[in-house]
Amino acid sequence: MSTFEKQPGQQKQSSSLKAVRGTRDLLPPETALWNHVESVARDVFARYGFGEIRTPIFEDTQLFARGVGEETDIVSKEMYTWEDRARAQSEKAQSLTLRPENTAGVVRAYIEHKLGERGDLQKLFYIGPQFRRERPQRGRYRQFWQIGCEVLGPVSSGAESPVRDAEVLEMLATLLDELGVRGWQLALNSVGSAEDRKRYNAALREALEPVKARMCEDNQRRAETNPLRVLDSKVPADQEIIDALPKIADFLDADSAAHFAAVRAALDACGVAYTVNPRLVRGLDYYTRTTFEFTVPDGSGLGTQNALLGGGRYDGLSEMLGGPKAPGIGFAIGEDRLILVLQEQAQANKSGAPGLDPETWGQKLDAYIAPMGVERNAAALALARELRRAGLSVEVGDGTFRLKKSFEAADKVARHIVVLGEDEVASNTATVKTFATGAQVKIAQTELQALLR
Ligand code: HAM
Repeated sequence: MSTFEKQPGQQKQSSSLKAVRGTRDLLPPETALWNHVESVARDVFARYGFGEIRTPIFEDTQLFARGVGEETDIVSKEMYTWEDRARAQSEKAQSLTLRPENTAGVVRAYIEHKLGERGDLQKLFYIGPQFRRERPQRGRYRQFWQIGCEVLGPVSSGAESPVRDAEVLEMLATLLDELGVRGWQLALNSVGSAEDRKRYNAALREALEPVKARMCEDNQRRAETNPLRVLDSKVPADQEIIDALPKIADFLDADSAAHFAAVRAALDACGVAYTVNPRLVRGLDYYTRTTFEFTVPDGSGLGTQNALLGGGRYDGLSEMLGGPKAPGIGFAIGEDRLILVLQEQAQANKSGAPGLDPETWGQKLDAYIAPMGVERNAAALALARELRRAGLSVEVGDGTFRLKKSFEAADKVARHIVVLGEDEVASNTATVKTFATGAQVKIAQTELQALLR
């Protein structure tokens, strides 16, 4: 019996199937906005010397356990993990996971393909879906899209330099400006070296010990397992305690403090505004030194999910994954959230940037060809082929449509209707109406392209 046949005792399924909770379909014309955003991103990344990387959507579970960290929310409760059965005796079952983020995969690929041996800085970008089993709400999905960049390489390539951090942040400011995102804010912090974090963790643990009993259950657990995570907590009742905890800034060694100062000085020199947020430690364990988030103001369309993007430095990640020393920095933009913000802004301000005006999402085609009678269908298709190959956008109607229905259909999708009746086909002509002006002419088919352009 195939898996799709009804199992004994199984209820008859009469309701229709829907996209799984937390996933969604992206439909035209909205997908035009997604494509616009991606093409602006590709254009900006190219100007900063980035090349595209595409890594698999699923990876060995160990990659995320070791890279992102066992104790993080992502790994401990949000991953889609399954055991991939062995298909032959020679094979072993393997635990696989849909990627919850792409940095670990990029660093795995960097190690696997020995990109470090090329000697230069690797500047990579990606655009693709990620998967986390979070509670779905506006701006938070179980399948969501990220547009991200990673800059990494051997120390000799300058990968550790604060210039890299500032360049990535300045590029993000440029990208958001070019997309027309208004009111974005950059929050910046340094979480120091792995050593600094160890000392800070110990201090946090100590400071939490006498007060943790007064905190929520989640924070009590975090105080034990991963005290840094307490700083992410948004639970209102715990804020007073959290604000009084030691600050990471007081635990940075001289090198980390100098690095952070140099990042800020470079941003000042570029005129990129930021605020330092000492609680910004981010939800992934691989971060060292610079961490950052870009947010949008309340009322920008994101509800409570106001982090448009996040990122930071991960100087030890390659080694954690068994690779060579390869300091790096990167970010990932939540593309779903970026789209929500742009839609909200376009609604508020009808004269949006190109691609953001809802009126232009469904760009009209150059022509709609209306065959009069089924005998003209083939001629209509042949004419459409000729026009399309010449670069025009064309829709073909159907010979069974009456003239009125053809006009209505054409007006919805195209700027012109090209009527092909018996007479037109016989004389290689076409009757063309331009909807914007109401002008109607009968012309030779050879003149059509010029008229439609
Ligand atoms: P992250 O902060 O976990 O960082 O995610 C980056 C962005 O992805 C978030 O700011 C948010 O916009 C978006 N995002 C995360 N989860 C969801 C969700 N469930 N639904 C919709 N959007 C979501 C990372 O993933 C790191 N890999 C970033 C990075 C790259 N750090 C260094 N390099």
